[in-house]
Amino acid sequence: MVSVQLQGRTVVVTGAGQGQGAAEARLLVEAGARVVAADLGGAMPGELAAAIAAASAPGESAPGELVYRQLDVTDEAGWERLAEWIRSQGWTVDGLVNNAGITQRSRLLDVSIADLQKVYDVNVAGALLGIQVLSPLMGSGASIVNVGSVAGLTAHYPVAYTASKWALRGLSQVAAMELGPRGIRVNTVHPGFIGTPMTAGATPQFREATLAETPLGRTGSTEEVAGVVLFLLSPLSSYVTGAEIPVDGGQSGHGGAKSVSDALRDAPFREVSAVP
Ligand SMILES: NC(=O)c1ccc[n+]([C@@H]2O[C@H](COP(=O)([O-])OP(=O)(O)OC[C@H]3O[C@@H](n4cnc5c(N)ncnc54)[C@H](O)[C@@H]3O)[C@@H](O)[C@H]2O)c1
Repeated sequence: MVSVQLQGRTVVVTGAGQGQGAAEARLLVEAGARVVAADLGGAMPGELAAAIAAASAPGESAPGELVYRQLDVTDEAGWERLAEWIRSQGWTVDGLVNNAGITQRSRLLDVSIADLQKVYDVNVAGALLGIQVLSPLMGSGASIVNVGSVAGLTAHYPVAYTASKWALRGLSQVAAMELGPRGIRVNTVHPGFIGTPMTAGATPQFREATLAETPLGRTGSTEEVAGVVLFLLSPLSSYVTGAEIPVDGGQSGHGGAKSVSDALRDAPFREVSAVP
């Protein structure tokens, strides 16, 4: 039987307090990793504490371990303090998950430069700082996973968020190219509609329209994203770098063709020559 094990590896996960980050931290602990879970709060958020408690079988300790550290990913000095603390523990960094992200739902003609800047600070600069500050602590075999979005593969309407996730793709590809010679891999996952606090307030219209564009016809779970992140952090993906993996139930793959397919599904068959 093959199982994915990360024993002896230290992985930093940003935005780990809730949602996908908490699920990623839990799965990594279950795989035996030492997880440095970081988020904005001074104390470990309740959702993360519950996720970690669930990583242990009753009466047994978890295969890996987790330490919580406060970190605002936009704060360069905070990243430096985190790196210094990791060094002081005598650890190297084997994995980094740039998961922290914020959304901003203004449309094209309403968005302000301040909105754009705020989203870029977290979603783009935050990931860049993580790579700049922690990659010196990494050796060959380390792996960085950036959390993009289906918004970064499409013209998703919240323009600041969408532009930030497209920018993150560019950052990821440059990092994969620049760090490859050191044996450090950099990949991106693009979640679709995942059930987290970020999407909990989605309107019924958004939910319905998004699911109509999703071939699997349902929202994804945080565990389904975490599984792909674990694969990308593990030696199973040792020749994968510069890759972008949608975890979106097929939402981005059809490029808008699904509504056409759905509309014609029950239509009578016509000769091929009638199709444009
Ligand atoms: N939920 C979805 O449907 C979805 C879809 C596509 C992409 N994503 C991306 O997945 C990632 C996780 O999203 P989620 O749905 O779990 O979001 P979430 O809002 O539930 O959790 C995000 C976490 O990031 C933290 N965070 C925010 N700003 C931070 C900062 N400056 N420094 C450190 N931590 C910060 C928050 O405190 C929170 O704990 C994000 O990058 C998001 O853009 C989510």
